[in-house]
Amino acid sequence: MKILGLETSCDETAAAVVENGRKVCSNAIYSQIEKHRPYGGVVPEIASRNHVKKLPEILRQALEEAHETFESVDALAVTYGPGLASSLLIGFSAAKALALRLNKPLIGVNHHEGHLHSVFMAEDAPPPEEAFPMLALLVSGGDSSLVLMSEPGQYERIGTTIDDAAGEALDKAAAILNLGYPGGPIIQKTAEGGNPSAIRFPRGLDQPDRGKWAYKYDRDLCFSFSGLKTALLTHVKKLPAPPEGKYLQDLCASYQEAVCDALSSRVVRALDRLEIKSFACAGGVSLNKVLRAKLSDISKKTGIPLLLAPPSLCTDNAAMIAGAAYGKYMHNPANSTPQDVNPNLLLSGWR
Ligand code: KG4
Repeated sequence: MKILGLETSCDETAAAVVENGRKVCSNAIYSQIEKHRPYGGVVPEIASRNHVKKLPEILRQALEEAHETFESVDALAVTYGPGLASSLLIGFSAAKALALRLNKPLIGVNHHEGHLHSVFMAEDAPPPEEAFPMLALLVSGGDSSLVLMSEPGQYERIGTTIDDAAGEALDKAAAILNLGYPGGPIIQKTAEGGNPSAIRFPRGLDQPDRGKWAYKYDRDLCFSFSGLKTALLTHVKKLPAPPEGKYLQDLCASYQEAVCDALSSRVVRALDRLEIKSFACAGGVSLNKVLRAKLSDISKKTGIPLLLAPPSLCTDNAAMIAGAAYGKYMHNPANSTPQDVNPNLLLSGWR
């Protein structure tokens, strides 16, 4: 089954064709980063206008690269939340119109579900059925969560951030240091060759606190990054001049280390408590080399296999949406079409 997926939840305009949930036939993306860079973050109005402008061209590119046409694909899939309302609406309206015109099924996909599915789209990934129960660390620009997946389509969030997301912490750090946007890749690059132990930044919720709760989650499995960001701001304000050279490298390496430590230590705690077959990391921050190295070490030490998405599928893309749509549709074709977008959509699963 070939599914044409559309993704416009934030600032990437993307379309892709995926066969049977795993084979990526095309993956066309227009990244709007350059449009938003002058503002240091995504401007919703600019994002939606650019989706309108670029989506037709990106759809054509996705079909051409896959040697498909609108008529030859079997179904359409689209992100219907969470994300920016005005951005979601562009992809959703286009997908709805196409599905009506072509008389093909329309499958609505939760953006986070797409990220989680992306780890099964690596060439060497096991079939999903063999990986469950699986623990997933979901780390994107707007979310940091630990998700327990007991079978395909079943998601239980067992930990979350109580303030900023990991990607947001990196983006804000780069803004404080005047390094540009998006912060994650810039901090990683600037940190190269720096000493990660030069400055001891706080790791939020570091002390094990068994039995305590943050919202409805076990506090031990939650994250907090706002104190880390404030620590950097305070540190920088005390410096006699803006940091540069080796000092800037050390600062970025130490900050990146604090973010990655906080993430990997929660994974270790969760793995200690759960009986699981594999663990995964998905979302834009999963591209981070230091985080990947820490998670690989955990995998080596525990013998629990680690699943990571191919780099091209870590940041926002439509292949993960078309991929995730397949299982959902096969499970219940009648119940996969959403009525509308939902900017605050929660990860609820379809089983
Ligand atoms: O998953 P994503 O593309 O968008 C959302 O769904 O939110 O993630 C974007 C986030 C940004 O915060 C960006 O700074 C971060 O991923 N990111 C990275 C790296 N590449 C992107 N963070 C750390 N290291 C990277 N190499």
